[in-house]
Amino acid sequence: MSVHKEVKKITTHTLQEMKRNGEKIAMLTAYDYTMAKIIDNAGIDVILVGDSASNVMAGHETTLPITLDQMIYHASSVIRAINRALVVVDLPFGTYQANSKEALSSAIKIMKESGAHSVKLEGGKEIKDSIERILTAGIPVMGHLGLTPQSIYKFGTYTVRAKEEEEAERLMEDAKLLEQFGCFALVLEKIPADLATKVAKALSIPVIGIGAGGGVDGQVLVTHDMLGMTHEFSPRFLRRYLNLYESMGNAFKQYIGDVKSKSFPNEKEQY
Ligand code: KIV
Repeated sequence: MSVHKEVKKITTHTLQEMKRNGEKIAMLTAYDYTMAKIIDNAGIDVILVGDSASNVMAGHETTLPITLDQMIYHASSVIRAINRALVVVDLPFGTYQANSKEALSSAIKIMKESGAHSVKLEGGKEIKDSIERILTAGIPVMGHLGLTPQSIYKFGTYTVRAKEEEEAERLMEDAKLLEQFGCFALVLEKIPADLATKVAKALSIPVIGIGAGGGVDGQVLVTHDMLGMTHEFSPRFLRRYLNLYESMGNAFKQYIGDVKSKSFPNEKEQY
């Protein structure tokens, strides 16, 4: 008899229970099958198919160029690898801001064609109608405030947001509204730790931070950054767990050397 251990899948409700129990939520990005499988097997709670794929996978300077179909390609590759994690997919720039009807059809396309579990949108009260309409179709929505990279040309820089009182008050107001609209969780990017802690305390939905300090309900990092595959990007909030840029580079150099010197393949490595 084979003993098949049932895996308890993470749902939006699990995350809310984790917040109630004071258990921190761990979230990472993934854009492909192989990476998603390793991350899921390691026991991550949430995988974000972020529009950071535009930077990390495609080499664009911003997140703006990535398309809905490209996000669906990444998301469906990730979904095929997942056993346990909740998968959240970013609605890319230009697919939800014009009107709520377009937002709903973008979210439905992602859910139908990739098999993802939820979507993430950047913004506060200005996208109320889009969030509410997506929710009417039963699609869970994660919010995203603070540094919202899709608005980079409005901000002008990737610096810390909401340092001034007026912007901090607006952010708190938007966070409360996102909870009222029905978002199941919220990402806060690059804002002062004190403000992020206050937001997490004021909301009953989980608040997941990136560059928002330790007083929130969970953390997210871009996987390629925390593995040290990217090396030009070094914000203060980034903890690097490996230096893969160097070790992968060394492995590639070794392989090239082995091919050139004819030491690869050897007798055991051939038929
Ligand atoms: O696209 C992304 O990777 C993100 C995270 C930085 C939160 O939105």
